[in-house]
Amino acid sequence: MHKLYVAMVGLPARGKSTMARRIRDGLLAEGIAAKIFNNGDVRRQLLGSESTEPDFYNPDNSFGRQAREMIARRNLEEAQAWLASDDGEVAILDATNASRARRQFIESKLRDHPVLFVECVNEDPLLLNACIRRKADLPEYASYTKDEALKSFLKRIEYYETIYDPLTDEKYWMCVDSTANRVLAERPCEISPYYAAIREIVVSVWTPCLYLARHGQTEFNIQGRIGGDPPLTAKGRAQAQALARHMEGRPIDWVFTSTRMRSHETAAPLLESHPEAHVMALREFDEIWAGDCENMLYSEIREKMPEVTAARNADKYAYAYPNGESYAILRERVQRGLRRALFLAGDQPLLILGHQAINRVLVSLFLRQRTEDVPYIHIPQNQYFHIALTPHRKLFERIPYEGSGGVPVDKDTALKDPQIYA
Ligand code: F6P
Repeated sequence: MHKLYVAMVGLPARGKSTMARRIRDGLLAEGIAAKIFNNGDVRRQLLGSESTEPDFYNPDNSFGRQAREMIARRNLEEAQAWLASDDGEVAILDATNASRARRQFIESKLRDHPVLFVECVNEDPLLLNACIRRKADLPEYASYTKDEALKSFLKRIEYYETIYDPLTDEKYWMCVDSTANRVLAERPCEISPYYAAIREIVVSVWTPCLYLARHGQTEFNIQGRIGGDPPLTAKGRAQAQALARHMEGRPIDWVFTSTRMRSHETAAPLLESHPEAHVMALREFDEIWAGDCENMLYSEIREKMPEVTAARNADKYAYAYPNGESYAILRERVQRGLRRALFLAGDQPLLILGHQAINRVLVSLFLRQRTEDVPYIHIPQNQYFHIALTPHRKLFERIPYEGSGGVPVDKDTALKDPQIYA
């Protein structure tokens, strides 16, 4: 029977644990027995708060170094025993495994089955910053102020950076941009039948629960005026309240808005009912930029700039407003925004509060719509989309939040092979 060790590699806050869970869950969905052995869990159990202090990670602190080596050894032995039993097929070692020396130790100790190192990198400053800030909320920092926790965690990273070696000499490895579901470099472990499955999991888009809603009605919507930064109307505010009521009791960990007032105003009641949710405004979710036509009425554009209306009608997807954007251009930044949002939310439920054109592009990324159809996708202001995309579940439904029940849109088949990072 084939067996494999997967050893995660990477500095703290690079998405290793999320990736380890995805590899485990993806393999389990294929009927392959996979289990995570996490050094951090053992450390917290054995040493508690003592090991939260940054000095514990100082390479010159021999107590800390020995304790971490002992924990690593213990986890290797547990993983080895599990693979030696009939139960185990893929043991995932979740730890930083930052130095070459540590990885040589792993390779020398685990000789019974191949070891595949999976390195996670995250070079996006916005994401790295947000991930680091989120770590300050971990239970192990409960007795720290937010600032103290942040300082302590940054110091821990600094110590790891002094011993960090990227993968090169190891026998089998894969270096993954964990913010973009991309393999950056690899030395494939072709002798293992699990390599291809793991690679597939790593490059797959994964979201257990994504809600996608549009802001409520604005005065501009009533007038047929585009772009700008208008506030919600009374009806729009009522829609925002209805959305919040509908979402009550449904866990939402992250709310992503655009930088526009209508998006913020729609999020406000929802954030009252979900005070624990993290909120982030991303420019990537700002409405299509109409350039010279910003703040104009559609009717005004028809009269004063007939060539714009004609060219847009001829090819709405490719047409870019003078000094503005097209749907084709928009797609690039919406993809980047989605990637960021999905990375930050990890496996937690998230909600994106976008705009008409933004949500059209987002929907099209999941449903593989023909480009010419994208600018015409119906994006109502009193319904939202609920999307789940994991190896266990593929779901796309549109749900009215002022009524009840969902309107499934060709579930199961619709989401196969989405093109999100194409
Ligand atoms: O009309 C509302 C709006 O969000 C505008 O701000 C935006 O320009 C437009 O929708 C995008 O839709 P379309 O591409 O159909 O004009």
